[in-house]
Amino acid sequence: MSLNYRDRFHIPKGPDGSDCAYLCGHSLGLQPKSVRAYIEQELSDWEALGVEGHFRARHPWVQYNRLLTEQTARLVGAKPIEVVAMNSLTVNLHLLMASFYRPTPARHRIVIEEHAFPSDQYAVKSQIRFHGYDPAKSLATISGEDELEELLDREGESVTLVLMGGINYFSGRAFDLARVTRAAHAAGCIAGFDLAHAAGNITLKLHEWDVDFAAWCTYKYLNGGPGSIGAGFVHERHAREETLPRLTGWWGHELETRFRMGPDFHATPGAEGWQVSNPPVLALAALRASMDMFDEAGMERLRAKSVELTGYLQSRLDRDADRGFAIVTPRDPERRGAQLSIRVPGSAHSVCERLRQAGVICDWREPDVLRVAPAPLYNTAEDIDRFVDHFVTALDGSNSPRMRSR
Ligand SMILES: Cc1ncc(COP(=O)(O)O)c(C=O)c1O
Repeated sequence: MSLNYRDRFHIPKGPDGSDCAYLCGHSLGLQPKSVRAYIEQELSDWEALGVEGHFRARHPWVQYNRLLTEQTARLVGAKPIEVVAMNSLTVNLHLLMASFYRPTPARHRIVIEEHAFPSDQYAVKSQIRFHGYDPAKSLATISGEDELEELLDREGESVTLVLMGGINYFSGRAFDLARVTRAAHAAGCIAGFDLAHAAGNITLKLHEWDVDFAAWCTYKYLNGGPGSIGAGFVHERHAREETLPRLTGWWGHELETRFRMGPDFHATPGAEGWQVSNPPVLALAALRASMDMFDEAGMERLRAKSVELTGYLQSRLDRDADRGFAIVTPRDPERRGAQLSIRVPGSAHSVCERLRQAGVICDWREPDVLRVAPAPLYNTAEDIDRFVDHFVTALDGSNSPRMRSR
């Protein structure tokens, strides 16, 4: 585990004033120390240049998003033309569904994974209703790849879109996106993904897998900051598809002629054509600080360390397997990312709160699941040891850790 960027992050302090064991990168990643300088550069340019900063800032704002393109493409296994940082996750899902969910009376169904993140469920149901269909008839859920293939074999002709999480937010299960995409395409459907829990966590090859579209947030593993700007992927083969309907705004207009302010929209080829408004440069600057670090570390090395850390977490928990909790995340590293979801006896909220008092930060989902994720950029084996020691104690309801051999 030689890869260690921990010193390049601000680590929050626990109640005793020392660094806490922060295992919550699946929810909100930590702040890279470099973020301040990246944002301050833009604040200085704004201070000195005002509106002129759009073209004369050190990194002209009009094209600031392009400073993130190459890193983002490498992160998700895409070509530069296929990615863009824009809007936020659910908004991007809507914008992409506006183009890629085109139901007809014969073919109107969307397939999602069971227990999909609520925002995704709300988004797909509202899209279905928006087109005049009924979610009770037009939304199908599947438990995983096998069930998806069976459903598409049986009823694929009524399905038009498969929209799944790359990793389920609750269970931490990673789906085989290449297989899902193949199955969707074989049935004549579009394959789209919500990569909130996958981007910056597992190895992605969106271009090679032939994924149609994807969207993700950048505040989890990508450490872009609370509510940070989202990102999207549209496969190159849709880059110049002029017949695709879309919800447009001036920032999706080709850059060369955008400021002629003409009445007709001409899309920038590729994912950038789905931009709507001019992006928040301060948010892009914060994200850029983190993306530059990801690029330096490399997803392959990060993933290797992540597999090791999460494997260690699992093996440490296994030693206390008789304590009445159960890991609900798959044991196969290929089928999960950094996160382990642990079903606990009683209230996960209470366990989480006891851990917080001991300087260990993770989170819970109702009613009884604790989510714990060692992020390879800043977590260490010691963080995991601290978590397990205090977790076992927290299960007992007491506050002093029961130290165990490691
Ligand atoms: C899987 C998943 N989808 C969607 C969202 C919603 O993201 P946003 O609020 O950025 O739209 C989240 C947020 O945590 C998520 O985990």
